[in-house]
Amino acid sequence: MKIKFLPPFLLCIIIVFSCENDDNDLKDIPYNPQPYVLNLPDIFPQMEVPPDNPLTQEGVQLGRRLFYDPILSADNSMSCSSCHQLQHNFTDGKATSIGIDGIAGNRSAMSLENVGLFYNGIMWDGRFNTLEEQALEPVNNPIELHNDWGNVVEELKADDDYSERFRKAFGIESRDEITKELAAKAIAQFERIIVSSGNSRYDQFLRGDIFPTDSEFNGYDMFFDLSTDTPDAECSHCHNGPLLTTNEYINNGLTPSSDLLDFPDAGRGAVTEYLFDNGKFRVPSLRNIALTAPYMHDGRFQTLEEVIDHYNSGGHYADNLDPLIYNLGLTEQNKEDLLAFLHSLTDTTYLSNPDLSNPFE
Ligand code: HEC
Ligand code: HEC
Repeated sequence: MKIKFLPPFLLCIIIVFSCENDDNDLKDIPYNPQPYVLNLPDIFPQMEVPPDNPLTQEGVQLGRRLFYDPILSADNSMSCSSCHQLQHNFTDGKATSIGIDGIAGNRSAMSLENVGLFYNGIMWDGRFNTLEEQALEPVNNPIELHNDWGNVVEELKADDDYSERFRKAFGIESRDEITKELAAKAIAQFERIIVSSGNSRYDQFLRGDIFPTDSEFNGYDMFFDLSTDTPDAECSHCHNGPLLTTNEYINNGLTPSSDLLDFPDAGRGAVTEYLFDNGKFRVPSLRNIALTAPYMHDGRFQTLEEVIDHYNSGGHYADNLDPLIYNLGLTEQNKEDLLAFLHSLTDTTYLSNPDLSNPFE
């Protein structure tokens, strides 16, 4: 028998059926995100996570893919992980970073270890307040990924795997709801799981599990100005607490400046537009510092020995040079001890967390 017209109920079924098959629709994919439990070392502060972006297994795994995926760069040659490499403790091992067009910036890539715990601004100059905000920048930055978020979002929408992952992480109902803001949220979730494991010799010593060597102990004494047996090295006034940073903005004497206007990089001053902040940079954490050479915002020092020599020299004068930077008068032995202490901060165990590795390998 020939069907001349479709009975209305059959038509309804066809419409519903075709809607369900609509490529844009993601509602059939289950949305049931599972919390991601962070294991921070006991001495660490709790992590403050934005209420609108809780850590979930699905969000972290989506962020991990985006972090490692060169889809974010204009020519598919680089990803976040090109400059934040796991084997370099999430830095790039270069003095200053080079983007997709081979152009070098004027700043050294920062480690992402414990980045979810820095609340006084991120970047060397603190120009971003949240990881969600920061994650949007490298894609557009001409000396980084040099792409356009519009292109990236189109590519993500066209990709079945990514669409499914956005649905599972954020409960979106169609591919059209994929946005750069959601991508940035996922990347931020991934960054928040980059935390130390608390197994450095220094941590073990604080827990009473091991005795430090004499050299490590003397370095510790100098770093924290604990006794009169060793000279004060003043380090802990700025590098303090479980993360070994106060997160303040300081001029530690790297660059001479006669009137606060001639710093080659104004640093914090460019953000606050306050003259006295020119030439100030954020005090970085010293966890795993032996793994992240070269050092300082412009990567000017190749080794920790050079860093110690810098502090021992008292640095260069500027009107806003911090008073704790002065000629320390350390002996060769003192310097070796300080170095031994800095090496006791090394702990690579956290890097073997399988959730941190490249998911495409
Ligand atoms: C071309 C190299 C390069 C690429 C690619 C890159 N970064 Fe960075 N990253 C840097 C440099 C350099 C800095 C320091 C810049 C500054 O302070 O101005 C930095 C700083 C950061 C910081 C601040 C860390 C802190 O402790 O304050 C975060 C977070 C970060 N990057 C995340 C990312 C993410 C996420 C991506 C990918 C979307 C990415 N980066 C891509 C080079 C890069
Ligand atoms: C007055 C505050 C202050 C004191 C004291 C201080 N630092 Fe720093 N430290 C900083 C600042 C600020 C930076 C980043 C400066 C920059 O890059 O412009 C820094 C950077 C570093 C770096 C490089 C970190 C990196 O990721 O590149 C190391 C290593 C370091 N300090 C070790 C020490 C040691 C060891 C001492 C004691 C001898 C010490 N600091 C004393 C403020 C201080």
